[in-house]
Amino acid sequence: MQMLNVDRIREDFPFFNQEKRYIYFDNACMSLKPQVVIDAVVDYYSNYPGCAGRSAHQIAKRVTDGVEEARKTVGKFFNAKHSEEIIFTKNTTEGLNIVARGLGLAANDIVLTTDKEHNSNLLPWQVNPCKHVVLLSLPDNTFNMEAFEKTLRERRVRLVSFVHTSNMDGVTIPAKEIIKKAHSHGALVMLDAAQSAPHKGVDVRDLDVDFLACSGHKMLGPTATGILYGKKKLLEELKPLAIGGETVTDSTYESHTPEELPHRLEPGLQHYAGIIGLKSAVEYLKKIGLENIRKHEIELNKRISEVLLDNEKIKLLGPENPELRGGIFSFNIKGMTPHSVALMLDTAYRILMRSGAHCVHSWFNKHNLPGSARASLYLYNTTEECDRFIEGVKKLLG
Ligand code: ALA
Repeated sequence: MQMLNVDRIREDFPFFNQEKRYIYFDNACMSLKPQVVIDAVVDYYSNYPGCAGRSAHQIAKRVTDGVEEARKTVGKFFNAKHSEEIIFTKNTTEGLNIVARGLGLAANDIVLTTDKEHNSNLLPWQVNPCKHVVLLSLPDNTFNMEAFEKTLRERRVRLVSFVHTSNMDGVTIPAKEIIKKAHSHGALVMLDAAQSAPHKGVDVRDLDVDFLACSGHKMLGPTATGILYGKKKLLEELKPLAIGGETVTDSTYESHTPEELPHRLEPGLQHYAGIIGLKSAVEYLKKIGLENIRKHEIELNKRISEVLLDNEKIKLLGPENPELRGGIFSFNIKGMTPHSVALMLDTAYRILMRSGAHCVHSWFNKHNLPGSARASLYLYNTTEECDRFIEGVKKLLG
């Protein structure tokens, strides 16, 4: 049973009008864009291609209003208390780096991550001053709460920076409980929400999270758009990653007066078309309903998992229960490389998916695996596409 009217949804995505019938299963990397998002971008470039917050003319005002409306819409989407708690970035990576640099960490400050972090939530802790501690997951790749609590008790953690939903296997950590426990030990919490924000409702106030970063391009928005959320007081204390145009109210040859939030953290000319397109993307997701999307992905994943996990040649990443993996089916086939699995499905079935280490090289290195082939689903995928995927994989199994 499909939770969503997928046929109707697909009409909104011009990608599906192509003559070639691709099966797009690479949503964890990049989502497709609905026409409303494309229209918003084209409207900006066609009708008011100006700068925000600079010139005083009518076109510039329209851009400024467009950007600030987008900020409000995104703020409401995440249930932020103040719209200036939303900082527009290029992507999740930039958001995480703004915090990693801006906190002014000292060499002995402990930053705790999981063992399943994307490079964007790993490398910043290797190059910025801090003591990086890695929390190992349980054998089925789910979160180890006991080990987490033990670490909090035994070490003075300054920042917990965890991937909310893993791009590698789809597992979501119990963020609310984690945040509560971290706060009770005086630690701040940042979430890498690149794979959760597009697929499930994320309420920053309910979670009580301190910082959260995600990407617009994975949630139907334009490329090179991202969001950093932070509690106002904490964002105000961050040292900006870059300064210059728009980040100050005044300057002399010797000094400058910093801007208020959010502009103090948004240096230089911004991706106005992208931000305005992102507003449409967020409105579209809200209209469909994040809970409907989450359930739909799980239904599809159940369909795939029920058939394919019976085969002993398939080695799944993460827990068997599809409810714990959302829309991700990440796997290896005995005797085949991940890339050959993906290439053969592409060539023979036009199934587009990602293969390799998915920017989580550290985990694959530790587990001595070359990577995985990953099908990642979204609101416009159908049961028919899943059946075709099952057929293709079965063919490879021989
Ligand atoms: N991190 C993204 C992915 O998993 C790019 O594909």
